[in-house]
Amino acid sequence: MKIAILSRDGSLYSCERLREAATERRHSIEIIDPLSCYMNINSAAPSVHYRGRQLDRYDAVIPRIGTAITFYGTAVLRQFEMLGSFVLNNAVAVIRARDKLHSLQLLARQGIDLPITGFAHSPDDTGDLIKMVGGAPLVVKLVEGTQGIGVVLAETQQAAESVIDAFRGLNAHILVQEYIREAEGKDIRCLVIGDRVVAAIERQAKPGDFRSNLHRGGSANRVQISSQERAIAVKAAKTLGLNVAGVDILRAKRGPLVMEVNASPGLEGIETTTGLDIAGMMIEFIEQHRHAVSRSAGNRVVNNSPKPY
Ligand SMILES: Nc1ncnc2c1ncn2[C@@H]1O[C@H](COP(=O)(O)OP(=O)(O)O)[C@@H](O)[C@H]1O
Ligand SMILES: [Mg+2]
Repeated sequence: MKIAILSRDGSLYSCERLREAATERRHSIEIIDPLSCYMNINSAAPSVHYRGRQLDRYDAVIPRIGTAITFYGTAVLRQFEMLGSFVLNNAVAVIRARDKLHSLQLLARQGIDLPITGFAHSPDDTGDLIKMVGGAPLVVKLVEGTQGIGVVLAETQQAAESVIDAFRGLNAHILVQEYIREAEGKDIRCLVIGDRVVAAIERQAKPGDFRSNLHRGGSANRVQISSQERAIAVKAAKTLGLNVAGVDILRAKRGPLVMEVNASPGLEGIETTTGLDIAGMMIEFIEQHRHAVSRSAGNRVVNNSPKPY
């Protein structure tokens, strides 16, 4: 197969591992920087050009689009979909997953348990908004934050009001969420491929922090997950239409709660902690599923996206 990884930085661990896994399985693989692509949006002959040449058709495209370039990155990904490439996660699903608010709305609609979460626009509502999610302590999050940046714990009502007002002053969209104290700074990252959780790790925040993100100094360990957790993780990925997803679960007293679904899960933490070849499993998933799309690619426009909501 001819595979492309859409990524700004081919030297990242995840890209290196995907390259290795594809090469081991005798596929050719190229790293394409989406920002260097330019496109001809033409129904008869759509094309993608890259650094002065027209790109050939790839059998499969693996998006690793950072949050800083979601808009352009997903436009490029969509163009590859138009060209009939199998995409590991499609553009509609990537955009959906990037929007925490939209994701949580879709998950809730499918009956998936979440931390109690509120959002609002007008600053006049701050007091009532806090009451609505059960009062302090609570977690305030930027809707478009990532890697734990823009996630703040407000222990008191007053702290919560100040944080909410500060974010609003920046004109940022925020979520206000019940704080799951009993998780004790831990969460479970489930790596879903297709309809299976292929690996899971428990992440623990560094002392003094409540955010378990490895980028914020958290540490990771192997963990056994329950069949209920497995089922929820797979359902969450399916709900957002993702073939590959990192589903983050908080273990609350009332059961597992889905906190977040990541469309471009990093492979380093989970591979080094579990010793599993996740990159290899991703390539194998492509090998097994790309034909379902190629066969229907006769009219060039391929819709391998789930029904959008
Ligand atoms: N409601 C919550 N209760 C307890 N801990 C939380 C809650 N929300 C987030 N956290 C902690 O903060 C971390 C970052 O939050 P998250 O929503 O995943 O944002 P990001 O997209 O920046 O990773 C989580 O991994 C978790 O450890
Ligand atoms: Mg997270």
